[in-house]
Amino acid sequence: MKLWLAGLGLAMMMGGAIAQTNLGSVVTERREGFKAAGDNMTAVAAVARAGSDPRETVARITAIQAWFATVGTRFPAGTQQGAAGLDTRALPAIWTDRAGFDAALAAMGPRLATLREAAASGHVANFQAAVQATGAACGDCHRPYRAR
Ligand code: HEC
Repeated sequence: MKLWLAGLGLAMMMGGAIAQTNLGSVVTERREGFKAAGDNMTAVAAVARAGSDPRETVARITAIQAWFATVGTRFPAGTQQGAAGLDTRALPAIWTDRAGFDAALAAMGPRLATLREAAASGHVANFQAAVQATGAACGDCHRPYRAR
């Protein structure tokens, strides 16, 4: 009986450790994905600044779109800044104001679609305006939901 209980306790401890590890990898993958999206966006913005042919940025924009299609699933409970063992800038406001966070995320979809269209069209001024609008939508989420 005692042995059985000890075994149960060990199993529960291991379960806790596994859950912790999973949340850690959620955060690692989340940050890597945002970092890659940020690198792509920096490269796209550089083309806009230079006023060169925006068509070369279509693949990067497509990659950014693919990332944001997955973001909604990457903020499970327990992965906020301050949670033990996690290195994240995700503010608790994401969970206390999920509707606002989801709205900021939903706003990215149409901005990115417009951006890709403008890039594919080769129209420099439209592309530059779409880069601005997309960058603003990044900031609209970072200001309330990401720590500095
Ligand atoms: C719906 C909210 C939301 C939107 C929209 C959003 N982000 Fe973020 N972003 C976050 C959050 C939250 C974090 C912090 C993630 C963490 O530390 O776990 C983050 C982190 C980042 C990081 C830091 C990654 C690292 O190294 O840790 C970069 C770079 C970034 N975002 C770029 C962008 C760009 C570029 C856009 C627009 C194209 C964008 N984000 C749009 C919420 C958002």
